Amino acid sequence: MELEMFGGNWTTDKLERVRKYLKAYTTIMRNQKFKQYMYIDAFAGTGWLTLKQNEQSEQQSQLSLFTGTFEEESKKNLQGSARIALQVNPEFTKYIFVERDKKRFEELETLKLDFPNRDILLKNSDANLFIREICDSQNWLEKSERAVLFLDPYGMQVPWQTVEAIARTQAIDLWYLFPIGIALNRLLKKDGKINDSCRKKIDIIIGTDDWYNLFYAEERRVGLFGEETVIVKKANFDSLKSYFIERLKTIFAGVADNPRLLFTSKNNPLYLLCFASSNQRGTPTAIKIAQDILRRE
Ligand SMILES: C[S@@+](CC[C@H](N)C(=O)[O-])C[C@H]1O[C@@H](n2cnc3c(N)ncnc32)[C@H](O)[C@@H]1O
Repeated sequence: MELEMFGGNWTTDKLERVRKYLKAYTTIMRNQKFKQYMYIDAFAGTGWLTLKQNEQSEQQSQLSLFTGTFEEESKKNLQGSARIALQVNPEFTKYIFVERDKKRFEELETLKLDFPNRDILLKNSDANLFIREICDSQNWLEKSERAVLFLDPYGMQVPWQTVEAIARTQAIDLWYLFPIGIALNRLLKKDGKINDSCRKKIDIIIGTDDWYNLFYAEERRVGLFGEETVIVKKANFDSLKSYFIERLKTIFAGVADNPRLLFTSKNNPLYLLCFASSNQRGTPTAIKIAQDILRRE
């Protein structure tokens, strides 16, 4: 069963777009002479989709329309990013899956049994430590190694330093599910009163503290006691989107300029699906393909 059949759900939408890119990527790389071209899944999960209760019931009702028997069919059909990547054809030369949670990791380990012919490295560790280490521990260009890396966190688990390490390799294409609605916009209170701990969290994921004066402005208003200065939130999803894309452009060779906002069924923006390419030579083609995939309805 194709993922498109669940249409409308942001989780399957995200996975389907990434899958399309992976397929285009391996189709091109197969005819080139790189020693390795890997798929790296830094927040791999279990290999199956782990949906929250409300997402599950939404997905469940869509599924039962097609199958009639959700219990039997669900696990078979709701594959997560790791399983989807392993089925992409042509295949990658190597797969790296990172998952911090011990229980989820144990389930992820079944991938080795289910895909015995694939070169799979599994890592039960913190994604940020591991990714920075593999990015910085070798010269990717000299070693003739390339990769597509998927950052699919629940929230603010990816410090900017990790994104910088990926860009520094000049060899990795990045798909990043940036928590624009689920985290960033929620912390940007309307009255601008953001406590230090929340400010720090924002600084960490966007790698700078210059955002406050861009997202907020002072305005003079006439109140009960005459004219007063108030802080007003200027940022909206459009400006946050542009801001984050500009941030990525400061460190990557190319960035897709049409990232995709992913919404809940009630139309609340959750994440921004972004693409960036770190390799100077590969960038024009990579960006063209990614932009096309991001544009499709
Ligand atoms: C949104 S889920 C990933 C879903 C997966 N991409 C899929 O399609 O099935 C995020 C996963 O990241 C894991 N995680 C959270 N923080 C992590 C960290 N710092 N390092 C590695 N894994 C982490 C969680 O346990 C969870 O399984």
